[in-house]
Amino acid sequence: MELVLEKVNKLKGNIFVPGDKSISHRSLILGSISQGETRIYNLLNSLDCLRTLGCMQALGVKIELDENNSVNIKGKGLYGLQEAKGILDVGNSGTTIRLLIGLLSGQNFYSVLNGDTSIRKRPMKRVVQPLRLMGADIWGRKDGQFAPLSVRGNKLNPLHYTLPVASAQVKTGLLLAGLYATGETVIREPLSTRDHTERMLEIMLADIKISPPEIKIKGGKELKGTEILIPGDISSAAYFIVAASILKGSQITIKQVGVNPTRTGIIEILKKMGAKIDILKYQIKSNEPQADLKIECSKLKGVEIKKKNVPFLIDELPLIAVAATQAQGKTVVSGARELRVKETDRIKAIVNELKKMGADIGEREDGFAVNGPTKLQGAVCESYNDHRIAMSLAVAALLAEGKTVIKNSECIDISFPGFEKMLQRLIDS
Ligand code: S3P
Repeated sequence: MELVLEKVNKLKGNIFVPGDKSISHRSLILGSISQGETRIYNLLNSLDCLRTLGCMQALGVKIELDENNSVNIKGKGLYGLQEAKGILDVGNSGTTIRLLIGLLSGQNFYSVLNGDTSIRKRPMKRVVQPLRLMGADIWGRKDGQFAPLSVRGNKLNPLHYTLPVASAQVKTGLLLAGLYATGETVIREPLSTRDHTERMLEIMLADIKISPPEIKIKGGKELKGTEILIPGDISSAAYFIVAASILKGSQITIKQVGVNPTRTGIIEILKKMGAKIDILKYQIKSNEPQADLKIECSKLKGVEIKKKNVPFLIDELPLIAVAATQAQGKTVVSGARELRVKETDRIKAIVNELKKMGADIGEREDGFAVNGPTKLQGAVCESYNDHRIAMSLAVAALLAEGKTVIKNSECIDISFPGFEKMLQRLIDS
C-alpha cells in the first residue's frame, strides 16, 4: 500500500487516539496470569497487540475482545497456562517476544517463539542472558541472540541484576520471570524507562517494591484480576502534536492521553523547542495519569537531546527529526544508538528519507543532527516497513511542497490503525 499526501494548511479539531500499546500488551499478559476476571477498556486493537492476544490464547487463556475494544479475560492464575500446540508467532512485535520469553521461562512446559524478518534480526541476548542466570533453559540462533527462540520452563532462582541497556522490554521480561522465582528479584535501572509494568503489578497486588532506581519483586504471590482503563497512546498522539505545532494556524485537542512521566519526553522536548502544549483535565485512572492535550502552532527552535532523556521519548525520535526541520537552529540527538535496533535502523531510515525531502540532516553513530528551518519538498519515500517511520514521514508530507508518496504504508497498522482517517478529519475540520 502507498500513502499519498499533499501539503495542508492547518489542523483543527478534537480527537481521541487509540489506546496505549505498551499498556495494552501488559494488560493482556498480566490479566491472563491473574486470578479471577480482568476487564480491559480501550485496548489498542492493532497488529502488535493482537499478536500478544493470540499468543495468550494459544497458551490456553480465554480472552474475548469486543467491537468497542473492551476485553474480558478469565485469568488462569500464575500456574494455569498450558503448553501451546504450535509456534507462538509474535509477528513484528518486539514487546511480545521479550515479555513472553520472560513469562515462559517460569512455566513447566516447552515453548517456541518466532516472528517476522524484522524480529529475527533484533537482539534477544539482552533478555535471554539474565533469564539464563535465573536458571532458564533458552535456545536460539547465535546462542540465543536471535529468534526463533525456544524455552523449556524451569524453577527459577531470584536475580539481582543491573540492566546494561535501558530497556523497558527487558525489565518487564525479567519482572515476569521474577513472579515465578523462589525469592526476591531485584532489578536496578541505570536510566529510568517506562514503568507501566510496575504500576499494573501494584494494582494487581503483586509483592512489589518500587524505589527507583530499584524494583524488588517476590515470586510465588498470585495476582488479582482487576479493571484496567487504558489511556490514549502518547506515542500515537505525538504525530498530531508535532503536526499541529508546525502547521501555521493549527489548534487541536487530543483527549485522554496517557501522560505517565516516563513517556512524556516528547512534550517536554517540544516545550523546550517553544511548542504551545497545555495539559488539561489531569487525572489518574488504573494507576496511570492521563490528560487532555491542547496544542497550538508556534515557532520552534533547535534543541539538544542527550542519552539520559532518550528512554522517555525513544519512539518519538524520528518524529523529533521532522519537527527539527522546521525549527530555527541546530537540533542534535545523541546517546540514541538503540534506535538502530528497532523495527528498522531508525537513524538511517529517517535521515535517508528526510534528505530526499530536502532536509539538512546528518547521521551520527548514536543519533542525528538537523539544521533548520528548511522548506521540504514532496518525494517518493520508503517506510522500511516501520510504522513509526511511515507516520513520521506523513507529518513531514503535510508541510512539503507537492506530493509525497510513502511506500509500504500498511505497517502503520502495527500501532495505529485508522491513522490516515484521523489525520484527514483534522485536515478537513
Ligand atoms: C516498549 C519499550 C521500548 C519501546 C517499544 C515499546 C515497551 O523498547 O521502544 O516501542 O512496551 O516496553 P525498549 O524497552 O526495547 O527500549
